[in-house]
Amino acid sequence: MFNIGVIGTGYVGLVTAACLADLGNKVICVDNDYKKIENLKKNIIPIYEPGLAELLKKNRLAKRISFGHSIKEATTKSEIIFICVGTPANADGGADLSAVEKVAFEIAQAIKGYKVIVGKSTVPALTGERIKQAIEIKTQGRVNFDVVSNPEFLREGQAIHDTMHPDRIVIGVESKHAEDIMCRLYKPLKSQIVVTNIQTAEIIKHACNSFLSTKISFINAIAHICEKLGADVEMVAQAMGLDKRIAKDFLNAGIGFGGYCFPKDLDAFIHLAEKHGYNFELLKSVRKINEEQKRFFIKKIEETLWNIKNKNIGVLGLSFKPNTDDIRNSIAMEIIRTLKSAGAKIKAYDPQAMAKAKAEIRGIQFCKDSYAAAKNSDCLLIMTEWAEFKKLDLAKIKKLLAQPVIIDGRNMFEPAAMKKLGFVYKCVGRC
Ligand SMILES: NC(=O)c1ccc[n+]([C@@H]2O[C@H](COP(=O)([O-])OP(=O)(O)OC[C@H]3O[C@@H](n4cnc5c(N)ncnc54)[C@H](O)[C@@H]3O)[C@@H](O)[C@H]2O)c1
Repeated sequence: MFNIGVIGTGYVGLVTAACLADLGNKVICVDNDYKKIENLKKNIIPIYEPGLAELLKKNRLAKRISFGHSIKEATTKSEIIFICVGTPANADGGADLSAVEKVAFEIAQAIKGYKVIVGKSTVPALTGERIKQAIEIKTQGRVNFDVVSNPEFLREGQAIHDTMHPDRIVIGVESKHAEDIMCRLYKPLKSQIVVTNIQTAEIIKHACNSFLSTKISFINAIAHICEKLGADVEMVAQAMGLDKRIAKDFLNAGIGFGGYCFPKDLDAFIHLAEKHGYNFELLKSVRKINEEQKRFFIKKIEETLWNIKNKNIGVLGLSFKPNTDDIRNSIAMEIIRTLKSAGAKIKAYDPQAMAKAKAEIRGIQFCKDSYAAAKNSDCLLIMTEWAEFKKLDLAKIKKLLAQPVIIDGRNMFEPAAMKKLGFVYKCVGRC
């Protein structure tokens, strides 16, 4: 068992900390957001992630997890230090690594004996090298330490499951000693561990997120053709997915990918490639197709409602995906802004993301449930595939709507069944 410091208590940091504590390690979590840490000390969790609140509470009571403000304290008390801070996009598409750099400097100021410093934040290749160099310069070579790249692959909404049962763990290391420590840390998870050098580990993360984004844009491009030719993209995806070489995940046609990671990670990889002399046309097309999906969806709304101005539009789903309250780069939020600026009156509902959405957008009505969002609306939009939307009483929805129009950006219902119920139902890649 290890003493571990986790720096950055966001979606990745908190989940990592809770899971490592649950495996028996002693974890200290640090963040420069003072209020967040004070709230965490009082068991107020800043994000919605299924099972996280319970896991944090359990491990706090067992005294395996604590919260603090000082990177110095976390560094001094820990053998392994995880960097989990944000790496947002710069205006040029590259990653803003200022938080990673700041944390590396603070670790360098505090470090005395040997430490393993692990990068979990998603960073452009060669960042591990930069972290190492920065700490070496600051400590003037007086301290022994290792830098490790351990990219994170968790999915929000199932982050605890993904952390406890990963498909694989990737560890980029330069020393046998650090490799042994990391393998001992993760041994209880009984997962396949891929050990490689730091640059390769960093590229693995770039490649995974880019490939998954490519799968989504690919099926969205197929959906477009299906709509034109009267074919059914769901059947196409299903049959494609039965081929083991392709696999079914991430072949869901819809309004495209959003969220904190995919858009910025795609931009960062394109940017990195360009910096090193490679024009990544394939990924530029992936990005372009994703942008077009939003426009196609708006066009569908316009084609159905005619003028957007003064129309009442109900919106189901605000988070970028189900089972999370995360609205960062949520396509739902982007589409709402577009419709609002075109003069629509928006009534929105989301099972978990309303508080975060209220803090971000003014001038729309937030509803207590899906039915309130549907009431007197000229159409109902489905933006996030929350399971509860699948169980809606559609007859009741039809009665509540001013006209029976549903435009579904997540293909939650069968078009034929919806038509039979008397809806004008439009979805993506199906007629
Ligand atoms: N969210 C995901 O699903 C996911 C999945 C895989 C990888 N990642 C990557 O992990 C990293 C973190 O993502 P996240 O979603 O947890 O971000 P987040 O914004 O939820 O959390 C980052 C945390 O770091 C803190 N922080 C920033 N600067 C700091 C500093 N100088 N000192 C201490 N704390 C600081 C912030 O206050 C925040 O609490 C990113 O690089 C992201 O790309 C995220």
